[in-house]
Amino acid sequence: MAVIIKTQQEIKKMRVAGRLAVDVLDMITPYVQAGVTTEELDRLCHEYIVNVQHAVPAPLNYNKFPKSICTSVNHQVCHGIPKVKKLKNGDILNIDITVIKDGYHGDTSRMFMIGKPSIRAKRLVEIAYECLWIGIQVVKPGIYLNEIGRTIQNYAESKKCSVVQEYCGHGIGQNFHEEPRVLHYYSNENTDNILLQAGMIFTIEPMINAGKRHIKILPDKWTVVTKDHSLSAQWEHSLLVTEQGVEVLTLGADEKAPLSYCQ
Ligand code: MF3
Ligand code: CO
Ligand code: CO
Repeated sequence: MAVIIKTQQEIKKMRVAGRLAVDVLDMITPYVQAGVTTEELDRLCHEYIVNVQHAVPAPLNYNKFPKSICTSVNHQVCHGIPKVKKLKNGDILNIDITVIKDGYHGDTSRMFMIGKPSIRAKRLVEIAYECLWIGIQVVKPGIYLNEIGRTIQNYAESKKCSVVQEYCGHGIGQNFHEEPRVLHYYSNENTDNILLQAGMIFTIEPMINAGKRHIKILPDKWTVVTKDHSLSAQWEHSLLVTEQGVEVLTLGADEKAPLSYCQ
């Protein structure tokens, strides 16, 4: 299967789905505090997506995933399952939201810091955000896909952090995960190292570790954690390749590219 070039009509639907995914993150933000359980955050998001947005939480039952959102705390890298444990002061948390509206997916995630995080936790969260944007700013028609990973890996390693290799960004549309695979590290072996074209839609979602890049999966079969127990951070946007460059489909209301990365 080749990478799907979206039609104008599909792009309109992807803009709507992307907006709804961001709205869930904005809705949940005031609840993300010490003492709340990730299960409670899942319940609030589920109800908002279903009852207010009249949309579908894509993770629920996706390959048997049991909840409607992913919540990954501290050394959890991604795909954390919401549970009864309470968040506490100093935790860092990724909330990953994917909604389906009118048949199309919007996928975005952010980091949250609970109370007062340590300096190194805050630094990691910031570096991961810069990794996302440094990847976004190379996106334009005519570049090779692996420029994204090359740029992200160079930046992360220049900051003495590492990039998880086992999970990647992905094409997105009528399917949650479509071609191409968007690696966040440099490889010239990826068989789908395509040239980007206007109309492609994919995510960038680098997982950045404070320690080594290696990961393992917990016995719940979903939660990915760092092998060395170091902290991990991730941010995700869904992106449309345009004639001019890139359109971020999941841009936050007061979010803009970190200044130094503006073109
Ligand atoms: N939202 C994740 C991504 O960015 C995928 C989660 S799959 C799930 O690709 F099953 F864990 F929800
Ligand atoms: Co994704
Ligand atoms: Co996601």
